[in-house]
Order: sequence, then C-alpha cells, then structure tokens
Amino acid sequence: MNQIHQLKAHFAEQVYPDQLGKYSRRKLAEIAEQHGTPTVIIDQDVIAAQYHSLCQALPKVKMRYAIKALPQVDVIRHLHQMGCGFDLATAGEIELLKSLQIGAEHTIHTHPIKKDAEIRHAIAYGCRYFVVDNSHEVDKFKAYKDQVELIIRVNFRNQDAVVDLSRKFGCELTKVPALVEQAQQAGIRIAGLSFHVGSQVPAPYAHIEAIEQCIDVFKTMPEVNWKILDIGGGFPIEYTGPGPVIEDFCAPINDALQAVDQHIEILAEPGRFIAGPSAIQLLSVVGIAQRGARTWYYLDDGVYGVLSGQMFDHAKYPITPLQTYDLTKGLKPSVLAGPTCDSIDVIDDDIVLPELEIGDIFVATQVGAYTLASATEFNLYPKAKTLWLNGQDLT
Ligand SMILES: Cc1ncc(COP(=O)(O)O)c(C=O)c1O
Repeated sequence: MNQIHQLKAHFAEQVYPDQLGKYSRRKLAEIAEQHGTPTVIIDQDVIAAQYHSLCQALPKVKMRYAIKALPQVDVIRHLHQMGCGFDLATAGEIELLKSLQIGAEHTIHTHPIKKDAEIRHAIAYGCRYFVVDNSHEVDKFKAYKDQVELIIRVNFRNQDAVVDLSRKFGCELTKVPALVEQAQQAGIRIAGLSFHVGSQVPAPYAHIEAIEQCIDVFKTMPEVNWKILDIGGGFPIEYTGPGPVIEDFCAPINDALQAVDQHIEILAEPGRFIAGPSAIQLLSVVGIAQRGARTWYYLDDGVYGVLSGQMFDHAKYPITPLQTYDLTKGLKPSVLAGPTCDSIDVIDDDIVLPELEIGDIFVATQVGAYTLASATEFNLYPKAKTLWLNGQDLT
C-alpha cells in the first residue's frame, strides 16, 4: 500500500463518514450557524429509545437512572415521564429532582459514604432506601432507623471494566453477615444487596457472577426480609469501536435473574447506556498551526470541557469534520487540541485530516454520558451550550 492509501485507510477508520447517523450535515451546519459553537445537542428520541431498549432487554428490572451521568433537566423530566426512577447520590441531585417536582417514591440513595446532613436532607425529601458498605455508615442510620431501609453494596472487582467502581466502594461478601447483624441489633431494617461491576463493561459475566453470589447470600440468610437486588449499571455503548448489542449483552443476565426469588424487586442503575448515545457536540476550528510534521487544529472545546470524559471516564469519542472533503487533495498527520492554555488539552494527537480552515466544524458523537457532567470552566471558558431536541427533524 502506498503512503496515500495507508493514510486514506487510516482516515476512513478514524473519521467515520456515516457516524452522524440520522443527522444531516446540512441541518447540523445550520444549527452551528444559528447557535454558534461549542454546542451540545441532546436528543429526546435517543433517550427514549435507549431507555425502552434496556427495559425490553431486562424485563424483570426496574430502572433507576444514574443522574450523575447526565444531570440535565430535560433528560430527567423525560425519563420521569416515561416511568423511570432515579439513582441519586448527593443533595444537589435531590435538589434537581425537587426542582422538577419529582417525588422520592422511585429513588434510591446509592452513595455509600454520606454526611449526616446529607442523610437528613435525603430523608426530608422522602428517600427511604440508602446504600451502605461499612459499619461506620450503618451507625449513621441509628438515629433514623424508623425512616430508612438499607441496601448493602457488595464489591465485585472487574478487571475488564473500563471504569472499575469496586476499588473505592463495596464491601466483601464475607462482611455482609456482620453488617446485617449490626443493623438488626440497632433496629435498622435491611432491604437488600447492590453491586456495580464497573462502567462500560465489555461482557456480562461479572454481572452474572455477582447476581449468583447475591442469590447465595439471600439463601444463606433466610432470616432477613430481602426485598431488593440492585444490579447497578455498566451496560456498554459503542464509542470508536463496535459495542455489544444490548439484547445479547442482557440475555445471560436475564437468565441469571430467573433464579431470584419472585418477591424480590430487581433494580438497575443505568447511566451511560441511556445518556451516552443521546448527545452530539458541534465544535469549531478556532486556530491552526504547523508544528513540526503535524498540523495542529485548535477547537473551541476540549478535554477541560465536554470531552472531559476522555480524562475522567477513559472514553474516546468519535470525532469527524462536518464538511465532506475531496480526499484526493491529500491528507496530513494532524493534532486536534482543545482551546485552553494547558498542553494536556489535546483531543487526538494522531489523526490524519484533510486541510481544514478556521471556522470549519467538527462533530463529536456519543458525548452524552460523563461529559457535560464533568466539564469545567478552566480558563473561564464557559461550558458548551446545550440544545434539547424534542422531535425536530434533523435528517
Ligand atoms: C453507584 C453507581 N450507580 C450507577 C452508575 C452508572 O453506571 P453506568 O454509567 O455504567 O451505567 C454509577 C457510575 O459511576 C455509580 O457509581
């Protein structure tokens, strides 16, 4: 293969011509023109489609959306309207639900570590179910024993998860009996077990193993009135490589759930799967410099902004120029950088691109989860504008 062919193949791999899916380039260009950039478009239809496909793939499971993934009012309101409950973890997330007049009925407080004031605030909101994973935390609930029920979070390490969530939280299975006994002696009700096998997991084996081990605990402690099994999140989406089909991913999880006693309610806390594919971002080229062999394109948002998930969430987002280019005119090794003064703010330092101009638009896709939520205003760059797409046709 000669060099230009290699570059073209590389370019085709990196810059997906059809990754814009249902969005037409013309309509996106109009939005960029009308609203400026950086702008994030969050699509109500995609939120609905993701929520419904997960509900269908896990028919026995009640969804509690993990607000932290994308705490955006329209997203929360829409999920609530569709019957979804919420996994909340902070006073801020509770205030967000309150601002939308969403009651606590279908919520669980999933943060294993809380200040007393946070517990009181959540109880005042009406939240009843709280996650704990250690004896200090169980102690905190003595004062509220008649108003709460506890869910013990168990730790299942998963080397395959892109984000391992069991390093920081969750107790070992062997600690469950002692926590149960401590709670019962204090007159605090135990409602169930929860786990989170890590975010963006490639295969469902960790879920299955965790479900089986929780079922064993239920069986070996029949004196407890087990009411809840919470299987957490972790349901994967596609980024720059192919992701599993959700029905296939969930099928063996469903099989494992068949063995859960009928009267135990099964919950899940999906964040990424619902929010991730719902958003795309439009960014503009604001500067160009030739540095050594590479052309640097500076965009108006980067890893301190919406693409912060590249740092915190270990995600790599598909990103492509909006315009189509005549590839025969040549491709060059390039770097895509964010706007801030920090040299870590590089989106991709190994991309080949056609020659671009200042003002050209890029589109990053799959940027709904752990992106806007962790965006900073470093350098006092304001956060990207968000647009809520509720039915408008962008095809
Ligand atoms: C307690 C808890 N539940 C649910 C989630 C959502 O996980 P995911 O986005 O993998 O679905 C997280 C993510 O950090 C979490 O910490």
